Order: sequence, then structure tokens, then C-alpha cells
Amino acid sequence: MLIKIALVILFLIVTAFGVLYLQIFVLGKKRHKLAFDEEYEKERAKSYPPPFPNGWFSLGASDMVKKGQVVETTVLGQKLAVFRGEDGKVGVLDVYCPHLNANLAYGKVKGNNLVCPFHAWEFNTDGTCEHIPYCDKVPQGAAVKKWIVDENWGIIMVWYHANNELPTWNTEGHYTEIPQLKFHCRTSEVLRIHLQDFNENGADHAHFAYVHDLLTIPFANRWVTVKHQLDLQYGEGDKKNLAWFTDQADLHWRKSGKKIERAGGKAEVTFFGPGFLVFKFYTEIGDMTLVKTFTPIAQLKVRMDDYVYAPKGTFGLSIKYLLGEATTQFHDDIAIWERKKFAQKPLLVKGDGPIMKMRNWYSQFYSEPTSMGVENKMVAITENETSEVLKTSEVFA
Ligand code: FES
Ligand SMILES: [Fe+2]
Repeated sequence: MLIKIALVILFLIVTAFGVLYLQIFVLGKKRHKLAFDEEYEKERAKSYPPPFPNGWFSLGASDMVKKGQVVETTVLGQKLAVFRGEDGKVGVLDVYCPHLNANLAYGKVKGNNLVCPFHAWEFNTDGTCEHIPYCDKVPQGAAVKKWIVDENWGIIMVWYHANNELPTWNTEGHYTEIPQLKFHCRTSEVLRIHLQDFNENGADHAHFAYVHDLLTIPFANRWVTVKHQLDLQYGEGDKKNLAWFTDQADLHWRKSGKKIERAGGKAEVTFFGPGFLVFKFYTEIGDMTLVKTFTPIAQLKVRMDDYVYAPKGTFGLSIKYLLGEATTQFHDDIAIWERKKFAQKPLLVKGDGPIMKMRNWYSQFYSEPTSMGVENKMVAITENETSEVLKTSEVFA
């Protein structure tokens, strides 16, 4: 009899855990499918600022190209050949050979050079043609456009500027503690968004109470709600490409409104220009760091890659839960961004947060005129034009 009771209890426990697991890690991740409507996408695209702001953008993880390899990638509206010479240095070149436009990404790496598959001209990482096997003389100026490359944090990044200006900042030196953390996994997905919407999200204080007030734990939302306390700071001078966003998310009892102690978490986000950011999560069940990159591929088409780190010794299931929670929160936003137009003149009210201030900061990443033929340009809007800029204590959702 006792054994039977024990088996029933065991069965109930396993079932309860199974349901929880299913809800948190499987059903909680279900997304609304978006029907792609080309005409509608064109309409949406017209409302947005240029699709490719100026900045550093990720091509992918360092292991996308090993020594002696060449791969093709499509980013920023064009195809690039990415290769790694025997010296380990990465070269990124426009994909079409200046001779007769063969695709260099289908060539091969010889020493530290990329060899065209068509007539075997050899190009170095600067894009200069160094050797033509059947001709003594290399014509002066024989070169293919090279991209400026940085390889940090295990990511290959290129500099993009609409008017071909040189980098005004670099990707080195930030977050030196990442090598001390344990790398867990990386994820990648393509979204139909403009990457500015992601940055505006932190300044859009009001939406937190309506989009980010739930947990993925089943039934928990009947009793508890998440409230956010937000703060946003912008860099100046040689740090003007940086912005910092803090979100203290606490659990509260729905009925009494009372805060549940030690049940929330804090997120600190550093934006490094338009292309990448670092999220640090601090919670009672563990800490997690996300390096998040946004690479525009075409208009309203952005690849988002996440590189997930945590302090050594952090419980694996904690990371899985935190990552699932963060991913769900992102997707709750993304579902809205993928269906919206850009409000050039939003109707803001008290409590909306410093959206215009964020736009003002972001406008430094656009050039005029842009080379992309997009007519809409971001107008720098002063802080006074927003309804108010709230202090942390005033934005309790
Ligand atoms: S097309 Fe590249 S070498 Fe001729
Ligand atoms: Fe959001």
C-alpha cells in the first residue's frame, strides 16, 4: 500500500514538473506567426529612418571562418567575402572581383591572400591585388573594396558608414570580464524590424506595464505581476556612442500591490552604438550576461545573435530559465515591432518616458545624405519636446 502511495506521489511530482517544464520551456516560447506581405513591408519601410545606421556590425562568431577558409555573407544590403589567412587575420572584401566580377567567396585562401576562382588573381586583406599568375604586371590600383574589421569578444565585426567615413570609436576594451565567464550557447534569428526600435524600447517606459508584466510560469500571473523601475543614461564626448539602461524588475502581489522580497531581478544594458549591446542580469537564481548583436541585412530585416555567458558554477537550469524569460520578453516586443510603422511624430503624453531623448541620441548614427535612397531622415528632437523626462523614482509602472 505504502509503495502504491509513494508511486502515486512520485507520478504527481513528475507530472507537475513535466507540465511546468512544458509551459516554461516549450509552450511559453510559442510565437505568433507573421504572414509576410511584401506591399505592407514596403509601406512600413518607408516610414522608418535609413535601414543601415553607421556603426560596428557583427558578421557572426569568430568560428564562422577558420584559418584558410573563405565564406560569403550578406549584410547591409550587400554580399561580402570573409576569409582568414594562415596568420589568423580576418579579411572582409566586397564579393565581386574587379577583373570580371567573379564571386571571390567561391575562391580559396592561399597563405594570407584570397584567390579569385576565375583567373586566380590574388588579393590581400587590404583588398589590393598582389599577384596575377599569367601577367608580370599588376595594374596600378587593382583592388577590391576592403571593410574595416575588428575581432573582439569572439565576434567578427565590420565598420559601416553610409558616406565611407572612418570609425569614430572601436569595440575594444569594453567588458574585459567576459573571458572570466563561462560561455553557454548562442542563438540567432532573423527579424522583420528596424533596429532603432530596440533602442527606443528602453526609453518607452509606459509599455513595460503592459508588455512585460507577466512571467512564463503557469498560473503565477493570477497572483503576481512584474513592476519595473527604469533609468537611462547617455554617454558624452568620446563616450557619446554609449548609452546605459537599467531595469529593476520586481514581483508584486496583484491584490495587495506589496512587493515580494528577493523575487525580482535587475538588468543592466549597455548600448554600443546601433549594432550591439551587453545585457547583464542579476537575479536570486543566478546571474547571466548576454552579448546581443543586431546586423541589418536589408530594409526591415535584421539578424539578432545572442551570446550567452554566466559566472562559472551557475546552475544550468537557472540559465535556461533566465534565457527563456529574457527571450520571451524580447519576443513580446518583437511581435509588436514586426507589425508597426515608425511614428515620426508620436503623440506622447506624461508617463511615456524619454523616447525623444533616445531618438536624439540615436540620430548621431545617421548620415546625411545617406547612400541608401531612403527619403525619411531622423530629425534631431530636443529633450524639451518630449512631455517629460522622468526620474527613476517616478517611473514605477
Ligand atoms: S574575375 Fe577574378 S580573376 Fe578574373
Ligand atoms: Fe520592451
